[in-house]
Amino acid sequence: MSADAVTMEKIVSLCKRRGFIFQSSEIYGGLASTYDYGHYGVLLKSNVKAEWWRANVQQRDDMVALDAAILMHPRTWEASGHLEGFTDPLVQCLGKCKRRWRLDHLEEAAQAEGRETTGLKCPECGGDLSEPRNFNLMFQTNMGPVQDEGSTIYLRPETAQGIFVNFKNVMQFARKKPPFGIAQVGKAFRNEITPGNFIFRTREFEQMEIEFFVPPDQAPEWHERWMADRMRWYTDLGLRPDHLQLRAHGEDELSHYSSATSDIEYLFPMGWSELEGIANRGDFDLSRHAEYAHEKMDYVEPGTGERYVPHVIEPSAGADRGTLAFMVDAYDEEEVEGRERVLLRLHPRLAPVKVAVLPLVNKDGQPERAQEVYENLRGRMPAEFDTGGSIGKRYRRQDEIGTPWGVTVDHQTMEDGTVTLRDRDTLDQSRIAIDELGEELERRLAAPWVSPKVGA
Ligand code: GAP
Repeated sequence: MSADAVTMEKIVSLCKRRGFIFQSSEIYGGLASTYDYGHYGVLLKSNVKAEWWRANVQQRDDMVALDAAILMHPRTWEASGHLEGFTDPLVQCLGKCKRRWRLDHLEEAAQAEGRETTGLKCPECGGDLSEPRNFNLMFQTNMGPVQDEGSTIYLRPETAQGIFVNFKNVMQFARKKPPFGIAQVGKAFRNEITPGNFIFRTREFEQMEIEFFVPPDQAPEWHERWMADRMRWYTDLGLRPDHLQLRAHGEDELSHYSSATSDIEYLFPMGWSELEGIANRGDFDLSRHAEYAHEKMDYVEPGTGERYVPHVIEPSAGADRGTLAFMVDAYDEEEVEGRERVLLRLHPRLAPVKVAVLPLVNKDGQPERAQEVYENLRGRMPAEFDTGGSIGKRYRRQDEIGTPWGVTVDHQTMEDGTVTLRDRDTLDQSRIAIDELGEELERRLAAPWVSPKVGA
């Protein structure tokens, strides 16, 4: 298939057809740009997060984990600058449609098409646009029974601040010294003006964030190291290198806290878009919390007494956006024996189900034998047992959810205890003894993997 055959519509349709992701509150007509994950979606996103924990915590000595609360003291958002500066420029159509737009997005689109960025009109109905106003993206709610100004709190717009406010706690208990990092995965909420592109930009999403604390003079070097590490993580998990790029932010794009940021971008169906940001936040956050909370946030070197506020390198990724990129990259269509095959060529470690066990026919003791094989395998890895429909139909279902291996119990199995092992990507079928199956699949799961779409 040509790489361009994947569209967002095809991904959305596959997600719905196979129960990965649904529109939220669908029976009430849906809630705009809000999605619920079904069985395979949960398993896929969990695998993305598990790989992130594995690479960034389990396989490193310089990282510890944290799970901070979503609700935080409101002073947090004064100190972080979000109350004042976490805004997007909002314009509204003054013509017929009255739609709201992000001015910076309209300007980017105009620039990309070589149009003037002044005097822009509503892209929907051509109406005039209002003057821009800064719209704060934080969701507000109230804590406790009385709704007054003093009870206003916010749903966190990033998980990062939970890490900064816990810096002292972690330093005390983790027995770490800079350079070291704190890793966290959790929900974040932003009242985006223009969410869209399926789960790419939503108002509720999950982040996978690292705040890596370093001596100030080492910040540029660690920024470089993290950019390389994070790019490698995506390619190790199968994303095609020519669909990934690092893009440094221009001065005018930098967030209020950042002295340098590069985005890892992926070539989504709608074009190059941010997958992860890797920022050099300097000492902005720790210094601001020190000021607002009247707490020292310095690191003091034991022997020398040297004291400094660590600088922070922040690789900040989206779990939903990552999941979308892995699906888009894995989506493929091909013709096999005159029929179209749709499949997800996911890295086996990301695949929701690793192996499907299928009896060739629903008689002659095959379903019972297949059930036994399945019971033995599922203790070792996520497996599925399926007896419903023709064998071709069952394989098509497994292809669409990205199951890398299929095991068929057939007539010969009943005679010699071997099964057919089918490979999702090559469609190779080999015979293997049932006794060797578990070990062989574990070996394949641990082996390095390159997407067959690389170079295709
Ligand atoms: N703490 C830094 C921070 O939050 P960000 O670039 O605003 O930086 C980091 O967000 C990542 O979170 C993005 O690269 C993206 O993957 C994800 N993300 C941000 N806003 C999102 C949204 N509205 N929907 C889905 N994912 C989002």
